[in-house]
Amino acid sequence: MRPPDATSLWGGRFDSELDPAILGFTGSLPFDARLVRHDLIASLAHARMLLETEIVSRAQAEPILDGLSEMLAEIEEGGLVVEGPDEDVHSWIERTLRARIGPAAGRLHTARSRNDQVSIALRLWVREELAALCASLSVLLETWLAQATEHVESWMPGYTHLQRAQPVSLAHHLLAHFWALEADAGRLRAAYEKAGVSPLGAGALAGSRHPIDPHRSAALLGLADVSPNSLLAVADRDYVAEATFACALLMVHLSRWAEEVILWTSHEFGFAALSDSVAQGSSLMPQKKNPEAVELIRGKSGRVIGDLTGLLATLKGLPFAYNSDLQEDKEPLFDALGTASGSVGAATQVSRGLMYDTERMRSALEAGYLTATDLADLLVERGTPFREAHAAAGAAVREAEARGCELWQLDPEDLIGTGVALDAELLEEIRPEAAGAARLSHGGPSPERVGEQLEEAAKALERLGRWVEAVLPPPIYRVHLEGRLLEEEVG
Ligand code: ARG
Repeated sequence: MRPPDATSLWGGRFDSELDPAILGFTGSLPFDARLVRHDLIASLAHARMLLETEIVSRAQAEPILDGLSEMLAEIEEGGLVVEGPDEDVHSWIERTLRARIGPAAGRLHTARSRNDQVSIALRLWVREELAALCASLSVLLETWLAQATEHVESWMPGYTHLQRAQPVSLAHHLLAHFWALEADAGRLRAAYEKAGVSPLGAGALAGSRHPIDPHRSAALLGLADVSPNSLLAVADRDYVAEATFACALLMVHLSRWAEEVILWTSHEFGFAALSDSVAQGSSLMPQKKNPEAVELIRGKSGRVIGDLTGLLATLKGLPFAYNSDLQEDKEPLFDALGTASGSVGAATQVSRGLMYDTERMRSALEAGYLTATDLADLLVERGTPFREAHAAAGAAVREAEARGCELWQLDPEDLIGTGVALDAELLEEIRPEAAGAARLSHGGPSPERVGEQLEEAAKALERLGRWVEAVLPPPIYRVHLEGRLLEEEVG
């Protein structure tokens, strides 16, 4: 029999030591060490539950609770570092606790398995990260909203097929990106809520014969729900997939924005320039100013999509309940959240360093006949069926092209032969600003509608801010801070 030694939580049925090469291959400590605080908090909650249900006595529980609290405090202060020959962070915690309080540490694992332990720690970790990501996302959204507020009347081309299409305002355009990311914040929040289910009490897969109180351990962690099924509790990684998906879609949205920044800061567009603090140079070409941070946001989006696909592929063939494959859930999740959070931070900085050239945007409205649709619509208003109006406006475009002028610069006389009836009033209405301002339909670019959007956007941002305030700092800190108090309550 191998004694419960320094490196493993098991050994009774084994004759020989684990091959170090196999331990090196199967171990997760190098990447799951970051779960240490979350596991310590969950372990504290579990130990308190064992005490309250009298599964362990006060004399047995106290050294465990004190030992875990001390470790947590030292980890937070940076005095204790997670390292050693352990399989994973869960094994490290038990070994470290045993080194401090002796064999009494062995009671902590009563009615618990690493299978429910790993999942609760990961759930607490992901919630903390999702809340923090929402907090930084709200800063980016605030930046865009502030810029939009300033550009309600900055007219520019809107595009379809990357061809100039119809006039919009810069505010309208920025708000389009705002709403895409605001929906991402909603998805991150939903993932936060979904992760708030406690698997504690599931044991390895089939619960426990001890009179445990899983709802109490959940409540101690600030979680309202307990998994309805012990097999699912340890097999379920939907919360990992949902958080990773929310990050992947956020990255896709950031990547589309980044692509536009890259286009807009090119000489070909010239709609914006990057301040020196957010652009980079070339080692060879002295004149270059490259949008490298946004290129990397675009590049990193592919990586997070990869995290999601890899994760789903890992999950798809797994029989219930726990399988070691589930250890492969962590690195993609860590990578997705880390990458999304870094990208949101970079996008915020780049946005702040983005100088819009509204003159250049305005002048881009002077080529491309962007108000031809408005001309057709005006003819419709005067009684022409749309299909005929479309053809008439097309004839006007042909005429303007031949004369090298804008639609609103055409002389009604020149169009007499084409059957298109223009007049001075109509020509005024197809100037880009007038045409943009006339698009009064819901969600459109007119300053009235954009003004309403700005109000809605500010409200949405306030809601997000209130939510972030309510969940940060995460409840796990509160449990930690109140830990001693709770202890007093126990008879
Ligand atoms: N390190 C593992 C993980 O991250 C947890 C260990 C579960 N191992 C076990 N034999 N049940 O998923």
